[in-house]
Amino acid sequence: MTRTFVGWAGSLLICSSIACNSSSHAVDVAPVPGESPPVKVVDKDAFRPTGNPDRIILTWTGDPARTQAVTWRTATSVARGLAEIAVATDNAGFAKSARQLVARTNRLQSDLSEANYHTVEFSALSPNTKYAYRVGDGANWSEWFHFTTASDRPDAFTFVYFGDAQNDIKSLWSRVVREAFTDAPKARFLLHAGDLVNHPDSDAEWGEWHQAGGWLNAMTPSIVTPGNHEYSSTGVANALRLSGHWKPQFALPENGPADLIETTYFVDYQGTRIISLNSNEKIVEQVGWIEQTLASRGESIRWTVITFHHPIYSSAKSRDNKLIRETWQPVFDKFKVDLVLQGHDHTYARTGLTNSTSGVAAKGESGTVYVVSVSGPKMYDVGRPPRPEFQRIAEETQLFQIATVDGDELRYRALTATGQAYDGFTLKKRAGQPNELIEQVPETPTRLR
Ligand SMILES: [Fe+2]
Repeated sequence: MTRTFVGWAGSLLICSSIACNSSSHAVDVAPVPGESPPVKVVDKDAFRPTGNPDRIILTWTGDPARTQAVTWRTATSVARGLAEIAVATDNAGFAKSARQLVARTNRLQSDLSEANYHTVEFSALSPNTKYAYRVGDGANWSEWFHFTTASDRPDAFTFVYFGDAQNDIKSLWSRVVREAFTDAPKARFLLHAGDLVNHPDSDAEWGEWHQAGGWLNAMTPSIVTPGNHEYSSTGVANALRLSGHWKPQFALPENGPADLIETTYFVDYQGTRIISLNSNEKIVEQVGWIEQTLASRGESIRWTVITFHHPIYSSAKSRDNKLIRETWQPVFDKFKVDLVLQGHDHTYARTGLTNSTSGVAAKGESGTVYVVSVSGPKMYDVGRPPRPEFQRIAEETQLFQIATVDGDELRYRALTATGQAYDGFTLKKRAGQPNELIEQVPETPTRLR
């Protein structure tokens, strides 16, 4: 059987079997007379909210062992959002015992449409338990999704970290998220280090971001920190405006400074404190909160991971965030932060143990590992020569990172968009001593333009 496809760039693709293969070949032809060329679906239609829930995303506002927040979008015709939840069972009987909750609803007027964003916070959940939930309005329901609550004590877990998605999100970022899922299907959360989109108030870009994550976002919670592209200028000096989508679509902990709510916050996950800082504004003003949040970790918190957008050690040519480095790094040193995950520079760069006293930590001296990564397709150059702190760098490479916290070890891997190992290390806690860093860089060449 021969299948023929006509491309409107004027080429003819002929496939000699049902599936096109390498034997296919393109031939230039003129468009068929009388047929109209394809028309791109306009954004207003492509991203129109309906009565069916979409953009479903799990986040946390409270303790991941006992709570779970879910947010979804509908047309404004859905005035009241509902969610149902039950402990998941192997047969479908769980649905009969589901409890129903009414959502808190926020209206968002975007550049394309008006929509309702509904949030339900499930509470009084049991730790380390698989739940099934669905969202809707009573007539239109999502499918039942599963999620698993955290253990209420320190326990091993894996998470995925993404640098900037930002551009061609549906087309070219989606493959990275999905590759990450195939490599870390049981990851407990997805951490995004800012610049999720390019234009802070573009509903189409946010729509693409949600489409790229798809049902994974409804099963695996996200931890998000804002980048500069989640902000727009107000025209007034030092006064930035956070994307109008941020708060309606992400229900985040409100344990940060009052004027940085849901951008600066922390989550404790099975013995690890994960902190989101806002590197776009109020750098100096955040110091008191950072100190207090690090000082209050207690004995059950053994690991500390911080994420924010603008890197302490910039990897991109001609960039340097001196104020952030000079203001925050001494605090990270003082409280022995283990790992800092950043974005912004559209390159890959990972340091060894570093601190503000001596830069590259001397043997036996404590230090923090800093990472810059990029998951989307936009690429910059690494400054030459690369900073002495960097142990592994890359240009022109979309990446994702998988980290596992397991007792005294934190194991980290960076993988390329096609799932190839690109970087790795293990951090080891040692009683009464600084962390040990074991380098595990694969023996593949450094990827430079
Ligand atoms: Fe950025």
